[in-house]
Amino acid sequence: MTATGMPTTEHPPHDTAACIDGVLRARRSVRAYRPDPVPLDTVRDILHAASSAPSNSNTQPWRVHVLLGERKQALSRAVAAAFEDGSLPASTHFPDPLPAVFGERQAEFARRYYDGLGIARDDAPARARQTLRNFHFFDAPVGLVFTIDARLTRHSWLDLGLFVQSVMLAARARGLDTCPQVSFARFHPVIAERLALSADELVACGMSLGIADHEAPVNQVSTPRQSLDAFVRVHD
Ligand SMILES: Cc1cc2nc3c(=O)[nH]c(=O)nc-3n(C[C@H](O)[C@H](O)[C@H](O)COP(=O)(O)O)c2cc1C
Repeated sequence: MTATGMPTTEHPPHDTAACIDGVLRARRSVRAYRPDPVPLDTVRDILHAASSAPSNSNTQPWRVHVLLGERKQALSRAVAAAFEDGSLPASTHFPDPLPAVFGERQAEFARRYYDGLGIARDDAPARARQTLRNFHFFDAPVGLVFTIDARLTRHSWLDLGLFVQSVMLAARARGLDTCPQVSFARFHPVIAERLALSADELVACGMSLGIADHEAPVNQVSTPRQSLDAFVRVHD
């Protein structure tokens, strides 16, 4: 910032691209964590950095609930219980039917994920046990719950997505790991009650935050991307 409070337009240092690309490539969804705590100041620092994310007309539609210690455990127990008793409608994260191209990628992810864990395709109880790990934030020391004002539309959800990715990158840049978790959205009623959400606050997703356990098989799962030519069309 300048003395007038206006942002500067300085060129970034020459190695910034390598640095940012390195953080982008080093981020991955981590589903097993070491027990090491993450100081609250570090979490606040990450969220502060991420709050520079852009948003439509600078509306900044994100809210974040930081869960630590017994408060995190209590929310996890409540959500896990709701998952196990199956009283809430099943989640609909995708349209039904899911267009084939996405269905194939989803199936490929599931194959890599469950193969990596040694869980057979038809072993529904083992799959459910793994899904349950979500609600314990995969034993990460920090749980985050992201909410958005329910009156906003998909354009503002785009803003929220940019903020969520910014949190993950700011965490990775500090040597921390994350897993974004839409699986929490289904449990909005349970979370709303436990966290005393305001009437307009809707749970968008959760996130685990901590230090990766690099030995855990679940963290060895690779998720390749399409080639550039498969998703880019240049009009010139
Ligand atoms: C919006 C969003 C929601 C997600 N929800 C979950 C989730 O509930 N549980 C989970 O284990 N992974 C979840 N993921 C992680 C994806 O499976 C993961 O991003 C994808 O397979 C690519 O792998 P990578 O993140 O390791 O690059 C989610 C990712 C995104 C972007």
